[in-house]
Amino acid sequence: MNTKQRIFSAIQPSGELHIGNYLGALKNFVELQDKYDCFFFIADYHSISGEYDPQKKKKQIMDLTLNFLAIGLDPEKCTITVQSQVPEHTELTWIFNTITPISELQRMTQFKDKSQDQEKNINMGLFDYPVLQAADILMYKAYGVPVGQDQIQHIELTRKIARFFNNKFGKTFPEPKDIITETPKIMSLIDPTKKMSKSHGPKSYVGINDEPEIIKQKMKKAVTDIGTTGKMTPATENLFLLLKILGKPEHYKEFLVQHKKGIIKYGQLKEALADDIINYFTPFRAKRKELESKPEYVKEVLAIGADHARKIARETMREVKEKIGLVL
Ligand code: TRP
Repeated sequence: MNTKQRIFSAIQPSGELHIGNYLGALKNFVELQDKYDCFFFIADYHSISGEYDPQKKKKQIMDLTLNFLAIGLDPEKCTITVQSQVPEHTELTWIFNTITPISELQRMTQFKDKSQDQEKNINMGLFDYPVLQAADILMYKAYGVPVGQDQIQHIELTRKIARFFNNKFGKTFPEPKDIITETPKIMSLIDPTKKMSKSHGPKSYVGINDEPEIIKQKMKKAVTDIGTTGKMTPATENLFLLLKILGKPEHYKEFLVQHKKGIIKYGQLKEALADDIINYFTPFRAKRKELESKPEYVKEVLAIGADHARKIARETMREVKEKIGLVL
C-alpha cells in the first residue's frame, strides 16, 4: 500500500521541449517523485483541441515519453502514461460537464487567449479543456498538482468542480492544491521582453534535445548589451540566470565579477554558457539515445502505467456512477 500523498500532472505532446519547459516542469517532476505517489500523464486529448498535424502526433507522444524517461522519471516511482489510454477520463469529463456552469468556462483566460490564437478553430474541446483537466486530476483524487503559474485558474476550477459534485452527490472528491513550481522566468534568447517559447521561433529557445552544434549556434545569436558597463539589461540578466542555474558555479562568479568591472566579453560568456548547457544535458542526451533504441521498453512503460491508472479510474467511475444514480 502506497502511503505517500498523490500528485497528478500532465504535459501536452505538442512538439519540442525547451530549457524553459525543463526548468518549469520536468525538473520539478523529477524532484517530486521521491516524495509523492506521482502520476505524470501525456495529455494527448488536450493537445488535439489546438491546430495539429495527425501525422505527427504519434511521434510527439513517443517523444515526450522518451523525454520523461531520459530526464530521470522512474517508472518504478511514478505512473507514466497517455491520457487517451484511460478512456475513463473522457467519461468523467461528460459527467462533470453536467455540473459545470458555462459561465465558469467563459472566464478562463487560457480559453480567451487560445481563442485569439486559433480564431478559425474555436472548438468545443478548447472550451471544455479545463473540465477534462479537472477529470484528469480528480479521477485519482490527487492531493496536489504541480503546475506553472498559468494553470492556477484551471486548478481553482478543479476545486470548484469537486465542490459542486460533493455538494450535489455527497462527499467524493478531495479539493486538490496547486503545487506552484518556483520557476525562474527564462526569456527568449533573441527578445528578452518575451518568455522563452516555441511560438517565437527556434532561434529564441534552446531545446532540450538540441545537439551541441545547434546550442552553440543559438547562443552565438543570443542578444546581449551594447557596451560593457552599467546596469544589467534584461538580455544579459537572462544569460546570467541561465548560467546560474545550468552553468558551472565558477563560470557564474567569474563573469559576474567581469561584468561589475566592466571588462566582460559577451562572446566569451555565451561560449561558456553554451558549453555548460551542453554538459548539463549530456547524460540526458545519452539516456535518450539509449531509449530510442528500445521502443518496446518505452511502450511497455506506457502500458504498465495505463494498467495501473485504469484500475484506479475504474474504481472512481464505479463510485461516481453509483452516486449519480447510473448503476442499475
Ligand atoms: N493544461 C496543462 C498544460 O497545458 C496540461 C494538463 C492536462 C494538466 N491535464 C492536466 C496539468 C492535469 C496538470 C494537471 O500545461
